[in-house]
Amino acid sequence: MINKKILLGVCGGVAAYKSAELVRLLKKRGADVRVVMTGSALQFVTPLTFQALSGHPVHTTLLDAGQEQAMSHIHLARWADILVIAPVTANTLAKLANGLADDLLSTLYLAAECPVLIAPAMNQAMWRKAVTCENAARLQRHGVEFIGPEAGEQACGELGLGRMAEPETICARLLAGLQPGLLQGVRITITAGPTREPLDPVRFISNRSSGKMGYALALAAIDAGADVTLISGPVCLPAPAGSRLVMVETAQQMYDAVMAGIAQAEIFIGAAAVADYRPVQAQARKIKKGSDAGSIELQKNPDIIASVASLLSRPFTVGFAAETDDLEAYAIGKLRSKNLHMIAANRVGGMEGGFDSDRNALQVFWPDGRQTLSMTDKPHLARQLLELIAGQFHGQNASGANGRPRA
Ligand code: PMT
Repeated sequence: MINKKILLGVCGGVAAYKSAELVRLLKKRGADVRVVMTGSALQFVTPLTFQALSGHPVHTTLLDAGQEQAMSHIHLARWADILVIAPVTANTLAKLANGLADDLLSTLYLAAECPVLIAPAMNQAMWRKAVTCENAARLQRHGVEFIGPEAGEQACGELGLGRMAEPETICARLLAGLQPGLLQGVRITITAGPTREPLDPVRFISNRSSGKMGYALALAAIDAGADVTLISGPVCLPAPAGSRLVMVETAQQMYDAVMAGIAQAEIFIGAAAVADYRPVQAQARKIKKGSDAGSIELQKNPDIIASVASLLSRPFTVGFAAETDDLEAYAIGKLRSKNLHMIAANRVGGMEGGFDSDRNALQVFWPDGRQTLSMTDKPHLARQLLELIAGQFHGQNASGANGRPRA
């Protein structure tokens, strides 16, 4: 973290005292830390503590006549390599999610173009409240990374999810996120989202994929320095800044888009939920209601990932397996039958994880290894999976075993 510029926002909560330890840990690793405190944070910890630990004056007000041009929020936002808010309260979470800018920290968030990592801390009932969940989900959709909250005993005496992640955990996440070049310059093609197979001009066969897993992988790959092409089915997610985004609708279109550029890819990740079948004939006009029963004749779609993996010079190929049962057996079966380098299996159809959830868990298999990645938010999971992929990809390239060598 030598000379990494970390802007730390501290909100008003008991956990604010832990942020002092976070500053100490970051400084120890060589980071340059500047601290911004909200008005209520000042009730919990004095700015002098953060000033002494960071070695810089603490910023507390939006309009500071002492600052040149009274523009400290713009200067601080431009200065930072990453904005970390720890702890973030339910109130600040709501402000960030809704674009309010009535103090220095919320204004900084709006002005910041760097990655943002936030560590919520609040009473467990406040964290579970529907409106807080919606605010958190909204921020995640906007690319904000979350760490925690963790479960345990709270300052109010209650038990549950709401404790701020420990400073060591936040520090470790920052360390992973700021390490440049895990996949520097590596060309990665990722598929994401569902496909739609038309029945007629107004109806189609599809599935519940939201694209969140594939888009999180694209963002994590961009952060790791990769050159990312994202081929996506229809989803309601913003284009990941820095990627080449190709939008498609059907499995055949996704196949065509993948195959058109696959010769350049060094890594291929198939996170899309591609429809296995399509109607033999899409009707040109809306199908009219007729007899009580009906049937649709289907034909097989091309298997995109199997086609990629069967290329003479195949990229390092990573598949997903979405299973409701026998996760391991089916995943290992697909790893072998589709000739993949690695497969990430997730359980679908349950209460949490899989399709259209903000969180997920994966069991990852490769020919001579496996790893379980436990339930967490998809952006975090994507980073963990990319670390595994990078390890195997670089290992195989070094041994010249498999995967396309760098041009
Ligand atoms: O999009 P989200 O809402 O975030 O949900 C994420 C997810 C559950 C969709 C994702 O994590 C996931 O599991 N994606 C793969 C879903 C799937 O289609 O699994 P499968 O077991 O049916 O397919 C196995 C592999 O073959 C996948 O890599 C798939 O992309 C690929 N495939 C399948 C069929 C086909 N015709 N072509 C393919 O390339």
